[in-house]
Amino acid sequence: MTNKTFTSVSSRAPGKYIIIGEHAVVHGEPALVAPLGSLSSIATINPAQPNGSKGLSITAPDINLSEYLHSLHQNNPIADIVRRTLLAINYYDSLSANLTITSTIPIASGLGSSASVSTAISRSIVKFFNIHLTDNEISDIVYKTEALQHGNPSGIDNTVIAHEVPMLYSKVSPPKHLRPAQSLYYVLADSKYPSHTITTVDSFSKQRLLQSTLFDRNIRKIGKLARSASIAFQDGDHTKLGALMTKNHILLQQLGVSTKQLDKLVNIAIEAGAKGAKLSGAGHGGHIIAQVSKQTMLTVANALKETGTNPLTAIIKPHSHE
Ligand code: MEV
Repeated sequence: MTNKTFTSVSSRAPGKYIIIGEHAVVHGEPALVAPLGSLSSIATINPAQPNGSKGLSITAPDINLSEYLHSLHQNNPIADIVRRTLLAINYYDSLSANLTITSTIPIASGLGSSASVSTAISRSIVKFFNIHLTDNEISDIVYKTEALQHGNPSGIDNTVIAHEVPMLYSKVSPPKHLRPAQSLYYVLADSKYPSHTITTVDSFSKQRLLQSTLFDRNIRKIGKLARSASIAFQDGDHTKLGALMTKNHILLQQLGVSTKQLDKLVNIAIEAGAKGAKLSGAGHGGHIIAQVSKQTMLTVANALKETGTNPLTAIIKPHSHE
């Protein structure tokens, strides 16, 4: 294969938000999750000029990265996903091209930024070679890079981002794609503290060993909430969903993953009319998610805005991907 046959390609991948079930999902319970299409990562590959430099140059302005693949450490997540994808498609030659990555998803904020960036890169590489990989194949490749960054992830982020459909995800059974009977409305707000999945998941697992009765009981309860939530979700029942989300937040508080700031945002959302709210993602920081109705979406978003955060809204339509 020569670069003469290559043309420029671009791929995008969304973010994600967990509606119910973070942490418990790492320990085998199901979780309800949706793609966040209003934020995304984009990877673009341009073939190198015939007389240009050899190798894959990688530019990611959001993180001030401008390097050649061969000079990045093997544990660099971008280098890792590039190498893993090339390996998966049996490409062993040196690739001369320019890869540019941009993302509007804030890093360490519970919205799936790392899995989104990896998915966009992996998809752009297979597209560049005009090869088709299934969503599951892309997700499996991305999972390995996620594991490099996050230690012991459940696989929820790479799966929902590759499939781009709301789903009940579990480590132990195939994801169940879900559609609500009527539109569901959400507001997300950033606590402005970072949420580092690797440290939060690790400290959660260590704490579980010390307080196994509390942790095992709450993990099972969260799993039960997620199963009920998947039914309420399909019914489009925002009142029920909201109540389940608030219960989930209380269980997560007891497990030590919430913070004063997350609790404050959850309370503001509920006082402003949300049907329920909780932290979303690994916790210790990152975002909260509020279940709202079409009528209360703006009021809740405005109340959260007054705290100095810039809320996001998301609508899951009966037949849309977001
Ligand atoms: C991260 O988005 C959610 C966690 O449950 C970790 C995981 O599932 O890998 C905290």
